Amino acid sequence: MRTILVVGGSKGIGKEVVKRLLPDCKVISVSREASDLDHPHLTQVETDAVKGELPEIDQIDGLVYCPGTINLKPFSRLSEEDFLTDFEINVLGAVRVLQTYEKILKKSDNASVVLFSTVASDMGMTFHSSVAVSKSGVEGLTKSLAAEWAPRVRVNAIAPTITDTSLASKILRNDAIREKMKERHPLKRILDPTEVAELAVYLLSEGAGSFTGQVFKMDAGMLSIKV
Ligand SMILES: NC(=O)c1ccc[n+]([C@@H]2O[C@H](COP(=O)([O-])OP(=O)(O)OC[C@H]3O[C@@H](n4cnc5c(N)ncnc54)[C@H](OP(=O)(O)O)[C@@H]3O)[C@@H](O)[C@H]2O)c1
Repeated sequence: MRTILVVGGSKGIGKEVVKRLLPDCKVISVSREASDLDHPHLTQVETDAVKGELPEIDQIDGLVYCPGTINLKPFSRLSEEDFLTDFEINVLGAVRVLQTYEKILKKSDNASVVLFSTVASDMGMTFHSSVAVSKSGVEGLTKSLAAEWAPRVRVNAIAPTITDTSLASKILRNDAIREKMKERHPLKRILDPTEVAELAVYLLSEGAGSFTGQVFKMDAGMLSIKV
């Protein structure tokens, strides 16, 4: 049975990834607080992936790194600390986890890594400068590692548009804003974490064996079409 490490498997997109993997895989979920999920294939480890002690694991066939930020402010109000915090959670946390488990991942016959970016790395959006800096770093990391780790380990990223999770709850704070957000997208929708999780699970699978170094824009049409 394959073993998948999901960093940030307690909430949002990561939790949906864990739910989809559990029937067929062993899952180790790392988050600061455990979720309510309970399954014989699931091990939950409560730790801070950026600063805490990471668990010892002897087999990993797939790794998903979910921690992220949406710290939206005008550029003039973003402090150096804001930029550093965003970089720490989005980029350095992923780097730390990937360096910790690199050797174990490379022992697998079909290892796959999934990272998360955002549509705001591709399209300039007001108040997104800090998160765009960090997520552009995630995209650079995705492509560099995909090259460095080929053919042993595939590395891809998903860049979603706004997705209905606790991370986005400050933005999606009432029905009027939710409708406005849907209207901004040619497909007139925001994303549900379940559909983003579906793509992550596919990228982990053997069926996605030809994809590496790719950033998958899940944009509800926003970046790709004009209607
Ligand atoms: N939601 C959106 O609109 C949206 C849009 C574009 C991109 N994204 C990206 O998609 C990814 C997933 O987003 P999401 O909305 O699912 O986020 P979420 O609902 O905030 O879930 C994040 C998960 O990561 C865990 N986590 C956060 N910091 C951690 C840390 N330091 N150590 C260990 N675990 C940590 C959280 O659990 P604990 O809090 O218990 O640690 C939680 O399980 C993120 O990288 C985000 O930037 C999201």
